[in-house]
Amino acid sequence: MRNGRINRMTWAIVVAGLALGAAFCAREDKSALAMKRSTELIEGLRKHQIPGLPKVLTQAQADDVEKMRSGEGGWFVEKGCFGCHHVTVYGVKSFAAIGPDLSLAQEDVEKRFGKKLEEFWKAPVGTMMIVRTQLIKMTPEEEAEALVKLRKAYADHQAAKAAGTK
Ligand code: HEC
Repeated sequence: MRNGRINRMTWAIVVAGLALGAAFCAREDKSALAMKRSTELIEGLRKHQIPGLPKVLTQAQADDVEKMRSGEGGWFVEKGCFGCHHVTVYGVKSFAAIGPDLSLAQEDVEKRFGKKLEEFWKAPVGTMMIVRTQLIKMTPEEEAEALVKLRKAYADHQAAKAAGTK
């Protein structure tokens, strides 16, 4: 009887230990994967001369990049726009934040450049002319996709504002 109880307790402890160990390993794996994926992404973007990106990521930065990348604003992260722009509606934060928040581009571009977003995007001026001709070159399909993403970000921003969450 007594033995049986000890055995059961021993088992309970072993099983709990294993479960804890497995959970810990899963977390370790996730961190390592985020570090690998984020480092690869940032290295790729740095090769394209996207400014302001750290040479070496801390684990927290790697986790942040991974989170932003897997969220709704993932496209802006993958393409490197987030090197210079926040996209706050999607929680995308730029390290350098040289340019304006892209959540507002659709209305802001009219104030800033006196042009509709589409016109600006087809023939960008200023920094974006340099970015598009030298850092981030786009096929016509990608150019069209970008316009869709920018409009969606603005629509999502407006919706969040109307709902009082932004
Ligand atoms: C090297 C930094 C840099 C990168 C990378 C970059 N931008 Fe920009 N962008 C700027 C700056 C700076 C401006 C502000 C206008 C200016 O100074 O000419 C701007 C302006 C814009 C505007 C007009 C916004 C407004 O509110 O008037 C849009 C739209 C835009 N960028 C989209 C993008 C997209 C989409 C990407 C990724 C494909 C991108 N940018 C990548 C620096 C950058």
